[in-house]
Amino acid sequence: MAAKGKGYGKVILFGEHFVVYGLPAIASAISNHTLAIVEPGSKGLEFIDERPSVEGYKETKKQEIQRELDAITKVMSIDVAKTPLKITLTGNLKAASGIGASAALATSIARALSNHFDLKFNDAQINEVAFEAEKAGSGTPSGIDNTVSTFGGMISFEKNMKGGKNEIEHLKLKVPLRIVLASTGISQETKKVVDDVRKAKEKNPAKFEKIFKDYGHLYEEALDALAKGDLKKTGKFMSHNQKLLEEIGLSCPEIEELVETAVRHGALGAKLTGTGRGGLVMCLVDSEASQDKVFNAIRKKGFEAEKTELGARAKQ
Ligand code: MEV
Repeated sequence: MAAKGKGYGKVILFGEHFVVYGLPAIASAISNHTLAIVEPGSKGLEFIDERPSVEGYKETKKQEIQRELDAITKVMSIDVAKTPLKITLTGNLKAASGIGASAALATSIARALSNHFDLKFNDAQINEVAFEAEKAGSGTPSGIDNTVSTFGGMISFEKNMKGGKNEIEHLKLKVPLRIVLASTGISQETKKVVDDVRKAKEKNPAKFEKIFKDYGHLYEEALDALAKGDLKKTGKFMSHNQKLLEEIGLSCPEIEELVETAVRHGALGAKLTGTGRGGLVMCLVDSEASQDKVFNAIRKKGFEAEKTELGARAKQ
């Protein structure tokens, strides 16, 4: 019998990259997920990747995915030489930079393996395995992606810079957040982009200090707007966050075109989400009609897009 496990995709509403340096961020699961199916195999680890994905994604991420797979089996003490396995990945999460696809991969596989071997891992243990996989895959991740992918919902996340427990607060949404997720079609390696930001910060600490301070205020205001269900303000703060990300070199012409198109067609705010320099742009809208309008305008420009809602709760 095949064992299954799910891992949810995510968007970061506020604070990607800043979160790596211990600033708080807000992220949410989306309803799309990766589904891992584990079955007995014939030799070693047979990995079949049937996830939908943007062009070039799987090629760009090939080595990262392999490192993740090796880390998962190692951390879970699974010896595929002794117990050959076949892992198939599928699901309705379109793998792309920025959507937390690597965390969803790790979470879904960890859950499926736990089910297959009847290890009875709880969410905290699944999250730990996924974090180790993320570290192996992308260097120095904050841990936000695997946390959202494992627990679902919307969270405020603050990395413990001393290596202890991260601060995670589950946020309750007054109203569901409707978004359009638009794809630049460009895949980026998170590790490389995070490394570039680190180098830029070392070169110009004063600039980063100012931006981090700005972001700190923005986070507080955004948290308040979300708690009150004030979509208009939330959208405005998202656009402000985009400006800060632009200042540290994380934008690109495609992102800016998508942000501009979304806002011109009625989005309350729009920003890159996740790694940046490509990947995805999230556009906040206040109604189904507005979601259709923004979606159609983006499609007309030749970009791929999806309509989704935030705050999906992960289930095993
Ligand atoms: C990637 O989804 C988010 C980054 O902030 C990296 C991380 O937090 O690990 C860019």
